[in-house]
Amino acid sequence: MEKELVLVLDFGGQYNQLIARRIRELSVFSEMVPFDITLEEVKTRQPSAIILSGGPASVHIPDAPACDPGIFKLGIPVLGICYGMQLMAQELGGVVKPSELREYGRTELEVAGDELLFKGIPPHTQVWMSHGDCIDSIPPGFQVTAVTGNCPIAAMCQPESGLYGVQFHPEVKHTPEGQQILRNFLFEVAGLRGDWDLSDYIEEMVGEIRNRVGGKRVLCGLSGGVDSSVAAMMVHRAIGDQLVCVYVDTGLMRKGETESLIETFKNQEHINLVAVDAGERFLGKLAGVTDPEKKRKIIGEEFIRVFEEEALKLGEIDYLVQGTIYPDVVESGTKTAQTIKSHHNVGGLPEDMQFELIEPLRWLFKDEVRVIGEKLGIDEEIVWRQPFPGPGLGVRVLEEVTPEKVRILQDADYIVRDEIKKAGLNKSIWQAFAVLPPVRSVGVMGDARTYAYPIIIRAVVSDDAMTAEWAQLPYELLDIMARRIVNEVRGVNRVAYDITSKPPGTIEWE
Ligand code: XMP
Repeated sequence: MEKELVLVLDFGGQYNQLIARRIRELSVFSEMVPFDITLEEVKTRQPSAIILSGGPASVHIPDAPACDPGIFKLGIPVLGICYGMQLMAQELGGVVKPSELREYGRTELEVAGDELLFKGIPPHTQVWMSHGDCIDSIPPGFQVTAVTGNCPIAAMCQPESGLYGVQFHPEVKHTPEGQQILRNFLFEVAGLRGDWDLSDYIEEMVGEIRNRVGGKRVLCGLSGGVDSSVAAMMVHRAIGDQLVCVYVDTGLMRKGETESLIETFKNQEHINLVAVDAGERFLGKLAGVTDPEKKRKIIGEEFIRVFEEEALKLGEIDYLVQGTIYPDVVESGTKTAQTIKSHHNVGGLPEDMQFELIEPLRWLFKDEVRVIGEKLGIDEEIVWRQPFPGPGLGVRVLEEVTPEKVRILQDADYIVRDEIKKAGLNKSIWQAFAVLPPVRSVGVMGDARTYAYPIIIRAVVSDDAMTAEWAQLPYELLDIMARRIVNEVRGVNRVAYDITSKPPGTIEWE
């Protein structure tokens, strides 16, 4: 039986990726496609339901983004969200006009009907609104099913045709009943079963990779991050020793990271792993360089060079594994995912080498990648690893990077992460790490004066790193970290905690 599919037509709203994620959380596979997908393509894809997303435009502007109106006549249930609802209303004979009051933020919704979409939803519930236009009159045959103080048509439907619209955003957490509303759309309105299962995904992808690769050889740049690790494991499961992984130790990795990566992938999983110890090479290039952008550039270029040299040593290789995940695909416009992203941790590709790409995670969101990693039996340490910048500790030793400073930072950073883990905060803190600034200060230890570096602890909570709040770690925890760092790390006599959010700060210091 064909797998159920929900197509989300993307009109450019800031929460759109969330729609697809929420649908998948309900065990239905969901894909985002450009709003101008042709009717033919929609028919070919045979979606079980369609969602029209929100977007920044107004239906009144010239060339307002619109989908093929034939979509409303396919007999496939459609849910329009915000702009998607307005477009549905306009296309089907309703009227949309600018609101007198722009509605933004939490709003109380009064449910006035709709046995299916609002099944189990209390008559008064909070929803998240963000719109300038609103619907003035509904299309013929529709009924109004919810209102808010400022918006007399906050939801509408025509159940016989399976057409539904909501002015609010059910996909965001600020709409507490949002997930129930989406669940109702999928299971009550569209009659889906919910057949998206990540275990099946592994089996399908493994089979696909095996067929595609045949007896050829595959290269994978392994960084130790979640994505490249899970991608490598999946490909390894498909083709075993035909996969060669290359790991570049830049000397800017965190304490113990290289050893644990070799232990996991080479010794435990028996993956063909080439680990290149390039620390001296990177540190040599960085000597005397203080400008953050220059440092990044040097590290990035050197990375490509080392990777390229190793790839050339391996001889004939036909495929390259990339840990591209779905948000990368969507952000690059859903069409351009074949181009390799230069900011990826693998760095880039040797220009004169021709590879075909294998992207086993290209349909998955980050949380799904983690679940797959767990299912593949990858260490929790790796599956729940916090994001780590490609240039590594090179951007956390501020200004000039020297071997001694890297050693100090590695030791201090190890303590920060160790204490975060012991406090059980590893999964709730987005990133927690240490930073070494290029200043020294006076202190006293025992009876002696010290003149040594401070360590800055940085810990933030975030959903996507676009914005972040400084983490309100318990004083006791900060106290333990500070004492341990000063006592255990040679060269440090002071600890500070960064209490800046993003914006105005960034997460990293360089
Ligand atoms: P900022 O410092 O801009 O960081 O708030 C946002 C997120 O991106 C990570 N980061 C990087 N990741 N290469 C990467 O792969 C980089 O050059 C880089 N710089 C920052 C950072 O750790 C945070 O998660």
